[in-house]
Amino acid sequence: MKLKYFDRTAGYFPDVCFERHPDIGIMLGSGWGESLVMDKVLARMSYADIPGLGASTVKGHAGEFVLYEHAGLRIAAWCGRRHYYEGDGWEPVVLPIEMLRRMGCETLLLTNAAGGINPALRPGDFVVIRDHINVVGANPLIGPHYLEWGERFPDMTDVYQKHLAELLHASANSLGLRAMDGVYAYTSGPCYETPAEIQAYKAQGADVVGMSTVPEAVFAKACGMRIAGLSLVSNLAAGISRQKLGHEEVIAASQAAKAVMSAFIEDFLQRL
Ligand code: HPA
Repeated sequence: MKLKYFDRTAGYFPDVCFERHPDIGIMLGSGWGESLVMDKVLARMSYADIPGLGASTVKGHAGEFVLYEHAGLRIAAWCGRRHYYEGDGWEPVVLPIEMLRRMGCETLLLTNAAGGINPALRPGDFVVIRDHINVVGANPLIGPHYLEWGERFPDMTDVYQKHLAELLHASANSLGLRAMDGVYAYTSGPCYETPAEIQAYKAQGADVVGMSTVPEAVFAKACGMRIAGLSLVSNLAAGISRQKLGHEEVIAASQAAKAVMSAFIEDFLQRL
């Protein structure tokens, strides 16, 4: 990835995006797209119109950037994400984070839908991401090194900040939602895993599995951001249930949890 790739993108954003740093950036994953209450919209852009980003090709990903004010906060929200498996390289995947960095945003909430590996998990549960395992064998930081993106060999000891994780748990508790800490295993997709792969990830210590979030977290951590990660368990991972997996099931589970996801984010924002 080259820093220059993003210059044209940044030039496309209106000045209001850079005049005051957003208090938090939010990435809404599969099904999370309609979770936000927006009091006062300051800027709104479709992914299809953003140079270097492009429309999401995945159902359940709205594809809209919104800068807005709510709960006394300035919030930069990416409603829908681009994935590595869409085949356009890492740039569209980390572009939202790079724009947040250029806006001066230092706090990031990453959400996703994930498959449950830990036997204690049921569809509809939440997992506060405590750490991750990148099983893809590729990394968005591969390429030229720029000081703007942190050190050449950035530390990944505490990718997900404890304090933010505690706030997520406090929100879950106050709303009566089932949420446990967990380790997220990142696979490239787009196929779901085999049961043998899921057993391997389980043995490695993974609680949930998904096809997103980690590249963004790695990039944001290298850039020095505080990160919170939150998964909705949309299904039991391959071989954990006898059912075959499909994206429709993932979408249906997040549709069913829509009101709860919205309440979760709302409560979390109030605690910042
Ligand atoms: N595997 C990978 N990604 C996913 C899953 C899964 O089971 N569920 C939602 N995203």
